[in-house]
Amino acid sequence: MSIIFLIGFMGSGKSTLGKELAEQLGYSFFETDGWIEEKEGLSVTEIFSSKGEAYFRDQESKLLSQLQLTSDIVIATGGGMPCVGNNMDLMNQLGTTIWLDVEEKILVGRLEKEKSTRPLLSNAADLSTTIRDLLEIRKPFYQKAKFTIQNADINSLVKLCG
Ligand code: S3P
Repeated sequence: MSIIFLIGFMGSGKSTLGKELAEQLGYSFFETDGWIEEKEGLSVTEIFSSKGEAYFRDQESKLLSQLQLTSDIVIATGGGMPCVGNNMDLMNQLGTTIWLDVEEKILVGRLEKEKSTRPLLSNAADLSTTIRDLLEIRKPFYQKAKFTIQNADINSLVKLCG
């Protein structure tokens, strides 16, 4: 019975790999962004623009405090979730945290195509610089994960969790 938290920057593959991992382990799969979107009846972009980032972060933290009875689940967290308050410590207490550490240039390539759905990137004048700056701030939080996989694929993840 366990909770596996996939953490990492936007575009690091938490959702795609998380779904596959859950399937292979026979666990359920859950996305924190999706949960908040469903609860609010709004997309993440709409929540950021109508209620603000601080509100969104509060929802992420609230969600974590409700997870205690959940088990056998892979959770793909929003990229900023581990970097607020004591969320990283809480996740480490509740389950196994895995940082999907992806090279900056790969992230930039992926996010170039997807930045319109990421409110923190959609207005970036220089995407590379924005990602680099944000990564610098976030790395100390991500580094608290119990495990780190560099440029993870499904095989490396299953090997770690299986
Ligand atoms: C965010 C990442 C997004 C989403 C929101 C904020 C962030 O999730 O939670 O746009 O602060 O890094 P993904 O990491 O799934 O893109």
